[in-house]
Amino acid sequence: MNATISAAALTPEAQLLQALPLISVRNLTVAYGDQPVLDGVDLDVRPGEMVALLGASGSGKSTLMKSLTGFAPITAGTARVAGYDATNLRRGDLRKLRSDVGQVFQQFNLIPRLSVLTNVLTGALHNAGPGNLLGGFSSAHRRLAMHYLDRVGIAHKAKEPARSLSGGQQQRVAIARALMQQPRVILADEPVASLDPKLAGSVLGLLREIATEDGIPVLVSLHVLPLALDYSDRILGFRQGRMLISAPTPGLDAHKLSSLYDDEGEPVDHHV
Ligand SMILES: Nc1ncnc2c1ncn2[C@@H]1O[C@H](COP(=O)(O)OP(=O)(O)OP(=O)(O)O)[C@@H](O)[C@H]1O
Ligand SMILES: [Mg+2]
Repeated sequence: MNATISAAALTPEAQLLQALPLISVRNLTVAYGDQPVLDGVDLDVRPGEMVALLGASGSGKSTLMKSLTGFAPITAGTARVAGYDATNLRRGDLRKLRSDVGQVFQQFNLIPRLSVLTNVLTGALHNAGPGNLLGGFSSAHRRLAMHYLDRVGIAHKAKEPARSLSGGQQQRVAIARALMQQPRVILADEPVASLDPKLAGSVLGLLREIATEDGIPVLVSLHVLPLALDYSDRILGFRQGRMLISAPTPGLDAHKLSSLYDDEGEPVDHHV
């Protein structure tokens, strides 16, 4: 009797578990001088997942993201990202790794006087290198950039200067620019901290849609618990450089999460 189960017979959850992680971190330790700011962190992020990082200011969320793109002083452990060993990059691989990782930032980091379309096109430079600027962008690049602008819902703004857009629209441009890299992974460090609650929800909804529909996993740091509960598949909770919570979002007790922010409270330890 053949006991093989076809992929189609698996539940979506089981298929997700089977997919190889695109981010895989083991015992990651980062220190600035003598001071460890990340201590023994383990995590796996698989295609299709939207994973939220929570924790008080200084708990290590940005440091974790930086360590995944070779920007933090890793002192122990391993971090594999999109097939690269981020702790031990060979010459030339650092640029390749960074071109495979789309990044979205709190302040959008657009070039204000350039058009929305040109801002999105700059995402292609990660893959091609700055030499691409000399001959200008190809029509295939322009079509792809328009496709991504359409994907994020602001194709009609393509010719406007980026500075004329609202914050929520600018963040959508930044997401289209990240997609232009054709990334394997997206890291979003507080992408909605400058947006009002309604726009914040719409930008997180877009990121989650990209994770679910395009299979590009999104690691997102947030400061607003309800947003993390509404828009993530899994929550990782940090406190003073240690990951104390790693659990699927559905059913996660908001009280446990709020204890991440207690000054005096007992550290929680809730791994699932
Ligand atoms: N370049 C650096 N040099 C020295 N210490 C640093 C550096 N970058 C970060 N740190 C320290 O590492 C710790 C973690 O910082 P990190 O920026 O990762 O926190 P965070 O969780 O992202 O905080 P926030 O919510 O405020 O963004 C802090 O104590 C910070 O002071
Ligand atoms: Mg931070």
